[in-house]
Amino acid sequence: MFNVSSLSLPAYLIMAEEPSKQAAEPPAVANLSLAETANAGIVGDKTKAVEQHIDPWSVSAAVDEQGNTLSFDYEAISKKWSTSLIDQALLDRFERLTGHKPHRWLRRGLFFSHREFNLILDRYEKGQPFFLYTGRGPSSGSMHIGHTIPFAFTKWLQDVFDVPLVIMLTDDEKFLFKENITVEDAKKFADENAMDIISMGFDQKKTFIYSDFRYIGGHFYENSVEFSKLLPFNQVRGAFGFDNSTNTGRIDFPSKQCAAAFATSYPHIWGDDPDGNRQKKTAAIPCLIPCAIDQDPYFRLLRDNSHRMKNPSPKAALIHSKFLTALQGPGGKMSASDPTSAIFMSDSKKDVQKKINKFAFSGGRATMEEHRQFGGNPDVDVPFQYLTYFLDDDAEIERLRTAYKSGEMLTGEMKQYCIKVMQDYVEDFQTKRKQVTPQILKEYMTPRRLQWGGNPNPVKPAAPIQAQSGKKSSKSKTSSTPATPAAQSESQSEAASQPASLPSGGNLPAVIAASTNAPVTSETTMAELVQRLDLDSVGSLAAQPVLPVLASAQPNHSLAAAQDGGTK
Ligand code: TRP
Repeated sequence: MFNVSSLSLPAYLIMAEEPSKQAAEPPAVANLSLAETANAGIVGDKTKAVEQHIDPWSVSAAVDEQGNTLSFDYEAISKKWSTSLIDQALLDRFERLTGHKPHRWLRRGLFFSHREFNLILDRYEKGQPFFLYTGRGPSSGSMHIGHTIPFAFTKWLQDVFDVPLVIMLTDDEKFLFKENITVEDAKKFADENAMDIISMGFDQKKTFIYSDFRYIGGHFYENSVEFSKLLPFNQVRGAFGFDNSTNTGRIDFPSKQCAAAFATSYPHIWGDDPDGNRQKKTAAIPCLIPCAIDQDPYFRLLRDNSHRMKNPSPKAALIHSKFLTALQGPGGKMSASDPTSAIFMSDSKKDVQKKINKFAFSGGRATMEEHRQFGGNPDVDVPFQYLTYFLDDDAEIERLRTAYKSGEMLTGEMKQYCIKVMQDYVEDFQTKRKQVTPQILKEYMTPRRLQWGGNPNPVKPAAPIQAQSGKKSSKSKTSSTPATPAAQSESQSEAASQPASLPSGGNLPAVIAASTNAPVTSETTMAELVQRLDLDSVGSLAAQPVLPVLASAQPNHSLAAAQDGGTK
């Protein structure tokens, strides 16, 4: 695992200081620059004989001179593709802003890399809209535990941020990239996978799931075609290594996976299609894409070109995961086509037990005597690795690691522990899966308005003072109602305005009322408000409670209005 402490400054601080030095951005993809990076294999310090290879359709770890498969070198991938490693400072900021302890997959580095996640946190902080986008290529009917990871993580992000989510099922991609699969097969897999995904517990009010074959049309198709016009074959070939005999469906597919990141591809979500055309305001809503690192080449194309759309979109932010280790051990990736490599969500309790006992690579010693004497190696022990994915308790993980290392805990005991945890995970999933009816599937997959709350307590930059008068009441909303597109886009345009200095005298209450969503209580002081509103200073007013000032200057302005005064 990489050493995050070697990064002296958190990436978001560096970016905040000097945007021009944003090291996170890879070189532009024009002129085949990606060919040298995306598809050329990753050279890590440890790789000699065969380099590791990662693209969206095939992944293989490096092999050393003796023919041993090595672990994936994720630090090398991040370096090669110029992504930012997730560091402790970013996680601390996440926790400060959301009030949620980072997910164990963040704490333990399974989600290890990002592009501009910090900018999404900035938006969350200010209560500005964004959405989540993830997807799956439905290549078979049943998913394995590795497939569930990005979805479980995305569900957690959705719960924390309370934002809309779109899930793209690329049945077209699988049809184009896999031999021996028909359009009908791919559509069927998409439905079956969608039911699996629904079992992960996504909130239906905030989640839209779609199959490309069924959904792509309308504004999505307009985006996809417009984007494809911006995308020369050169760039696509550079990203994916296509050649003259590649079928043209494959060549055109990336523009679809990219167009899915534009908010305007889903006008129904924002209820925002007044004249039948894609709206500029909606295009300005960015997305955060949780995905495995192998999907990154798609989104480099997206990030390099999204500002060139007629209605430009901000660069999508990304958060990348490693691959879940195959049962056979480090360097392997769970594969749907190899039943011994993975635990499937349809496996019985017995299957789980058998697979872990029989196939899980062990970091234990050859004999019990040796194990007791020298201890095991938890870092390569697959049952222990799986426990780090699924057991939340940090102290318990440390206890297991220490006990295994010291030889106090035996391989069989570690396997038993892992079997129990995995059986529970799979069983819980199966119980929920049984409850997903065709009717429920239809509900998630129907284009419709979504409802979400966003940050209940944002710090908003102060809006320009002239803009306040008269407009206030029409903007006010209570937090229990869904965000409206109008409110969304107002918030959007406010985002563009810079934090202002607090004016002196009579304008103060107006600024307060219009600029904060957070409750203003009798305890709230000016100093606090300065923080919330991102203002420069309030000078001598700092220690004063806010409410009396508010009340005396504008007697008609109720506390309730001050409390829900912001838009979302
Ligand atoms: N291409 C992905 C796959 O084969 C599916 C996908 C589409 C996706 N859009 C995505 C995955 C966004 C992650 C994020 O699995």
